[in-house]
Amino acid sequence: MAQIKLEDVTKRFGKVEAVKRLNLTVEDGEFVTLVGPSGCGKSTTLNLVAGLENPTTGYIYIDDEIANILPPAKRDVAMVFQSYALYPHMNVFDNMAFGLRIRGMRGDEIRKRVDDVARLLGLHELLDRKPAELSGGQRQRVALGRAIVRNPKVFLLDEPLSNLDAKLRVQMRADLRLLFKRLRGTVIYVTHDQEEAMTLSDRIVVMNMGVVQQIGRPDELYDRPKNMFVAGFLGSPPMNFIDCVVEERNDGGWLQTESFEVRIPEEKLYKIKTMGGAKELVIGIRPEDIILGQPGCSIECIIETIENKGSGCIIYLRTDSTRIICTTERRSDLPIGGNVKVGFRLDNLHVFDKKTEQAAF
Ligand SMILES: Nc1ncnc2c1ncn2[C@@H]1O[C@H](COP(=O)(O)OP(=O)(O)OP(=O)(O)O)[C@@H](O)[C@H]1O
Ligand SMILES: [Mg+2]
Repeated sequence: MAQIKLEDVTKRFGKVEAVKRLNLTVEDGEFVTLVGPSGCGKSTTLNLVAGLENPTTGYIYIDDEIANILPPAKRDVAMVFQSYALYPHMNVFDNMAFGLRIRGMRGDEIRKRVDDVARLLGLHELLDRKPAELSGGQRQRVALGRAIVRNPKVFLLDEPLSNLDAKLRVQMRADLRLLFKRLRGTVIYVTHDQEEAMTLSDRIVVMNMGVVQQIGRPDELYDRPKNMFVAGFLGSPPMNFIDCVVEERNDGGWLQTESFEVRIPEEKLYKIKTMGGAKELVIGIRPEDIILGQPGCSIECIIETIENKGSGCIIYLRTDSTRIICTTERRSDLPIGGNVKVGFRLDNLHVFDKKTEQAAF
């Protein structure tokens, strides 16, 4: 297996800067996910590592060796695309064996490798079937198997689960994580699905418009997003953003919104001050950090509507000027159109500079 290092990598297509000064090291055996909205440069980054594109500037290293101009075949990486394009006239065995045959591997060695990987992926009963005789999830596993039998240094996966239905995707997601842990593979995985990124990865790279926003463990990014983009991208329903100003009064620091105020402790006030004294701020609070109708809750809200999800629900609230989304773990019997007093788990409150969108905390 291998370490991948991207150093100040930029890729331009004419005027479009698809990737801007990207710095990232993926450690040997690590599962790193690139996530971000459509067009943010995820596939381009993956293609750069695969050798399907060359960087405009910067360096790509595979195991300390500069790989910038190495052709794809010399990089020892295996790529799995969203459209997995199996050979329709070949059965599962031949689809998986194809890449090994063209490399001139001996027949008995091929048989052994394909058998091993088929067993690993639960495909060993299906080796004689043609792709048309398989379900979507099985086909997806064949595409993965084709990459795994090659025993590459690095796996590059570009939205490999996006063709599957929701239930199968969740199942395959869990399988993939286990599989690559077992293989100890170095993996770069691309998705625009934040939940997939959160559940699969050792580390996540959040990108927007070709620029890395933040790199870190899933919990780090979720709990301590560096800016409003990362805060809003991870989590569903997304974090609530509420405009506010900060006021220093005799009794401490207060965040004043149009319809309510929140007291903040001394050290947090200090963090806002050290951020450059921005006047206009934004409160960030996740839907699960909102408390309803308990002692200490003081923000008067109207319940606009409630979506029951079976186990829990999503409650849409409104003060006179602000909409707030809250989630609960249990079903709610609150009356739609009625009032409820709302509070925040203040330890989990975020504050951003409205102009720069950077987090104070
Ligand atoms: N060959 C190309 N020629 C010109 N522009 C390109 C080319 N490939 C990608 N781009 C542009 O580069 C930007 C990044 O594209 P990329 O395919 O990396 O996005 P992505 O994050 O993978 O998006 P998606 O989630 O939609 O797959 C986009 O603006 C895209 O239009
Ligand atoms: Mg893409």
